[in-house]
Amino acid sequence: MNTPESIFTRREFVKTSSQAVAASALVGMVIPTVHGAEPNEIRLALIGSGGRGTGAAMDALTQGPHMKLVAIADVFENKLNSSLGNLSRKFTAQVDIPEERKFLGVESYKQAMDALRPGDIVILATPPAFRWVHFKYAIEKGLNVFMEKPICVDVPTGLRMIELGEEAKKKNLKVGVGLMVRHCRGRQALFDQIQGGAIGEILAMRAYRMHPPVGSAFTTPKMRNDSLAADNSELRFQISRFHSFLWLSGGLFSDFYIHQIDECCWMKNAWPVKCQAVGGRHYREDKIDQNFDVYHVEYTFADGTKFFMYGRTMGGVKDEFSSTAHGTKGLATISVGSHHLGKAGRIFKGQLTKPADQVWAAFPDAKAPDPYKMEWADLVEAIQKDQTYNEVKRGAEASLVSVMGRHAAHTGQEIVWDDFIGIKHEFAPGLDGLTDKSAAPLRADKDGKYPLPMPGLTRDREYREFEA
Ligand SMILES: NC(=O)c1ccc[n+]([C@@H]2O[C@H](COP(=O)([O-])OP(=O)(O)OC[C@H]3O[C@@H](n4cnc5c(N)ncnc54)[C@H](O)[C@@H]3O)[C@@H](O)[C@H]2O)c1
Repeated sequence: MNTPESIFTRREFVKTSSQAVAASALVGMVIPTVHGAEPNEIRLALIGSGGRGTGAAMDALTQGPHMKLVAIADVFENKLNSSLGNLSRKFTAQVDIPEERKFLGVESYKQAMDALRPGDIVILATPPAFRWVHFKYAIEKGLNVFMEKPICVDVPTGLRMIELGEEAKKKNLKVGVGLMVRHCRGRQALFDQIQGGAIGEILAMRAYRMHPPVGSAFTTPKMRNDSLAADNSELRFQISRFHSFLWLSGGLFSDFYIHQIDECCWMKNAWPVKCQAVGGRHYREDKIDQNFDVYHVEYTFADGTKFFMYGRTMGGVKDEFSSTAHGTKGLATISVGSHHLGKAGRIFKGQLTKPADQVWAAFPDAKAPDPYKMEWADLVEAIQKDQTYNEVKRGAEASLVSVMGRHAAHTGQEIVWDDFIGIKHEFAPGLDGLTDKSAAPLRADKDGKYPLPMPGLTRDREYREFEA
């Protein structure tokens, strides 16, 4: 297994050059007969059929008629049926899911993967708490994997994912991680520009993810009471509000900020060595989730370069979604307004984004290919050409650097990577033994409130579980 030091010092970034852009077009390709009776067919199973899982399945099916969805699994029947309805309507000829290949419950991942053959692809799009459990089973079954980010929620599960990633490599399995910006052709060209010195030495980077409440990040007592009254268990309630609970999602910090943390570190071609952060709850009234509504992390790289990540989840204030790199010779826009390239991927002389100062643009007409489709094009191409393809280590590092920033905000301490990586607090141990009847890994107190981070008071871990 990789030691913490090797994770950091080797810095094996996958260098994506503009050549990779041309090489990835799916033209004139002979598909090897790795799938037995039907050589061209790649079967898919979807585990976690919510918003992104459904979107990922659509992006996969868009790759061509040889992609077939044959199994689906979720905890909630309504989510499964709604996803399947949407997929079947849009890709009628490519969805073959009779009743017996619809699976429900927290153990349904096994049955869905059992419906595939070695070399097929399983899509893991549940909350990230379950990633290592599902990935482990996929490796046992010899499946290629597409897994959504983040791929861990704490240090122990991050290191476990790196270890599992190495096992997948040994079995020549192809594994894609849903940090799709890495597959954006415009950002790949921007990376080449920055590494080639187009903005000089990077001095600082800043990223903003500031918007009104999102996903299931903020939870009220009424939501919990309604869920429990509708015969949902505490476990099912927590799963249904996964952004609210650190054991399930890593909180809104990990879920929403990881993309920009990853893309900035990518452009710097390094991971930070330490960070400090502030964060707190301003207008949270009676909310019972574990999130702060404001986070600001100052990451520091080994050469002293700073990266400032600003997150705010609040209505009625300035919204912003952007990532920017400032160099000695100019400025680069990494993201503007969305994960799609849009008007980003531009370089300006000086430190302002004045149109007259623009010196380079990846796609001047802003019509860049969709990165969510490109990540699938790259994965399917690797499977078809039997190329080495494993994004787990990079995905785990991005997930862990996100956890590091969150940990700094939640504890109020300066966090140094080499110490951080030794943290043993696993939020929900034993998730591979979870059943639908299990107790929820996180306990509420008698008033239905969950433990909160308390910077300065709880310093050795992000929150202290309530006693039974
Ligand atoms: N790459 C991106 O831009 C992007 C965008 C959105 C979400 N995501 C990621 O995708 C994942 C899912 O997010 P979402 O927005 O689709 O959430 P969602 O709530 O819409 O979907 C998650 C689904 O997983 C199901 N589920 C939960 N636990 C399960 C289990 N143990 N077994 C089977 N099914 C289970 C839920 O019932 C739900 O239907 C998260 O990791 C999130 O960060 C990535």
